[in-house]
Amino acid sequence: MTNPLQTSSKNPISTMLSSTASTQPATDTTSAFARSVLHGLSQAPKQLSSMYFYDERGDQLFQDIMHMPEYYLMNCELNIFEQQKAQILEAIGLEHFHLLELGAGDGYKTRLLLRYFMEQSVDFEYQPIDISASVLQELELRLREELPALKVHPLPGDYFNVLHEVKETDTTPKVVLFLGANIGNYPQERAVAFLRHLQDELNTGDKLLVGFDLKKDPEVILNAYNDPAGITAAFNLNLLERMNRELGANFNIQDFRHWESYDPVTGATRSFLVSTKAQHVFIKTLNQSFHFEAWEAVNVELSQKYSLSEIEALAADSGFLVEQHFTDDRGYFVDSLWRKL
Ligand code: AVI
Repeated sequence: MTNPLQTSSKNPISTMLSSTASTQPATDTTSAFARSVLHGLSQAPKQLSSMYFYDERGDQLFQDIMHMPEYYLMNCELNIFEQQKAQILEAIGLEHFHLLELGAGDGYKTRLLLRYFMEQSVDFEYQPIDISASVLQELELRLREELPALKVHPLPGDYFNVLHEVKETDTTPKVVLFLGANIGNYPQERAVAFLRHLQDELNTGDKLLVGFDLKKDPEVILNAYNDPAGITAAFNLNLLERMNRELGANFNIQDFRHWESYDPVTGATRSFLVSTKAQHVFIKTLNQSFHFEAWEAVNVELSQKYSLSEIEALAADSGFLVEQHFTDDRGYFVDSLWRKL
């Protein structure tokens, strides 16, 4: 990702995903959301960017997803940090460093590491990066309450602009956190581009701790994205409701359904919104009508699952050396520690 289109949200993913590259001319009066929708609904097959899941309602639904028993990813990473924080610190192996986090969000999981590093009297400073200054302010306040002795230096802005600035001005060794399987929301080639760009902005010897969801029993994966309570369905359908609210669209939500697929060969886990009948939808902001055929599917999200060997290939392709994998008890998820060569 060379030009992340970042939006304000409590969720890290919306601060990392760029919209699909638009071939439509940008106009001052058309918002980035509207342009992304116009581009996506003009494609065959149609697509919408999951970046726009995260408005206020989407943030709330994503919080609900993270607490669902079926959505194992959150607990896996907590388990890794709880069980292996000492090994992670040992593998970092730096006397003094800055701990930068991309898309820190509410810092819930990271706090486990921060607390442990402080208990061990590690000489470090925490530097959360987020496009939203208000998200960073909230996080800083909470950290000052919970860990008053922690050195926190929030860095608001676009990830790569901030990293570039830091590279130019500060030679302190860095450990960058990119957690939560957010990398999985990129297709393979964009994941490589994102990681290459990231390593460009690091110095030799700097480290990256990056979270990946692993290939596993397909049923476990499908249940995580197709929960019986319908929370994921509501999360995805909220994208249509957001278009109704913000772009004056007239989607009938009951005429679309959420569908999930997992390909155990490629690891691609895809979410679709399927039109249950032939219909036209008008979008006022675009002054355009879009036709949906009966059972036409709109691609809305990729959540890529990896094998350890695929992760190692990704590291090599983007100029990193894998130092250690930290997997949870069930072997569902890995936080992989890489070093810039
Ligand atoms: C943010 N991201 C890593 C989540 C995922 O698992 O792809 C978003 C999500 N979509 C549906 N459930 C969760």
